[in-house]
Amino acid sequence: MKKIAEGKAKLYVPDESLTKDSETFYNSAMEHQRNVTIACVRLAGSKDALDPLAATGVRGIRLLKEAGVAKVVLNDVSPAAIKLVRRNLVLNKIKKSSYEISRKDANELFLEKRRYNFVDIDPFGSPIKFLRSVSYALRKDSLLGVTATDSGALAGKFADACFRRYGVFVCATDFPKELGVRVLITSILKNLATHEMTFEPLYSHANHYFRVIGRVSYGPDKNVSKIKMVSYCPQCHNRKIGVESVCDNCKGEMKHIGPIWTGKIHDSEFCKKLLENFEFSGKREIELSAAEIDHPFYYDLHMLAQSLKTSPPRMEKLIEKLRAKGFEASRTHLELRAVKTNAGIKAISVLIAAGKK
Ligand SMILES: C[S@@+](CC[C@H](N)C(=O)[O-])C[C@H]1O[C@@H](n2cnc3c(N)ncnc32)[C@H](O)[C@@H]1O
Ligand SMILES: [Zn+2]
Repeated sequence: MKKIAEGKAKLYVPDESLTKDSETFYNSAMEHQRNVTIACVRLAGSKDALDPLAATGVRGIRLLKEAGVAKVVLNDVSPAAIKLVRRNLVLNKIKKSSYEISRKDANELFLEKRRYNFVDIDPFGSPIKFLRSVSYALRKDSLLGVTATDSGALAGKFADACFRRYGVFVCATDFPKELGVRVLITSILKNLATHEMTFEPLYSHANHYFRVIGRVSYGPDKNVSKIKMVSYCPQCHNRKIGVESVCDNCKGEMKHIGPIWTGKIHDSEFCKKLLENFEFSGKREIELSAAEIDHPFYYDLHMLAQSLKTSPPRMEKLIEKLRAKGFEASRTHLELRAVKTNAGIKAISVLIAAGKK
């Protein structure tokens, strides 16, 4: 064990290497997503929270110390984790009335139907087995955070695993990070929809993991209509909402992705407020997110340039040219070498092929 600090929390964490087999789990590479979570929950004003996969308790403790949450339930199925959670609560002098500890399977806990203003699903690998029952723990207008570390499946590398877990057909694309975020949102939406609930993404992450935090509301899901099939051309990177078999740009054969969420992956107004209230490092990502257009899916400029046998254009110049032609265009926080635009493949290809002229 070693003692560290994260945000306003002090923590005992295991000092051995991070493997699934280590007794409890602490990953400093996840600090950024915890910082974003703290800032989102503080903005949303959630008063109670459930940390069902608590590990060291870092998230629950930070929610109490930094996010204005008054009461947290910290749960983990592992006895070693619960021992550490207790130790960390004492270390942070958290008063007994602010927390409850439980050592159950998270799904069992959800099925008790006690509802919370914020629930965070942060598992090893895929969150799918928790998504099926988390609805029972969600209050009206609550927040839900979901992390997935099975990135290869979500991003199009392991298509069979993606279909098994999430029921979405995927393939290799030039937008793997947006694909992963959208598969995850699709799965959250479809699971919540079976309980007559809906989900509105507020902020999305794509790193070595995928994560989405969003608002849950009760009532029939109007968003389901934005879950669609998408056609993708692996030769020229053309993409179209709907099912098409021949690429209208290069006449190549199109592959099919979906059914997948084509709506917003973040809420720009919320991201602007988040940016104003964000006191941690990593602000640039939130800044990009706040300025990002909603149109799905980004174009990877390196891959586009490669297929056009030219060199990648300068990002800012290309955005300027797209806007001058009347298109929407922005960068994306998901991939720094990519552009988001509502311009089709033909229009963007012409601009890239024209190069530095
Ligand atoms: C990735 S860690 C959680 C990390 C933590 N949320 C953080 O921010 O540092 C996953 C934790 O889930 C626990 N876990 C795995 N399956 C579980 C289950 N079915 N119910 C409850 N806890 C479970 C593991 O013991 C482990 O501590
Ligand atoms: Zn094509």
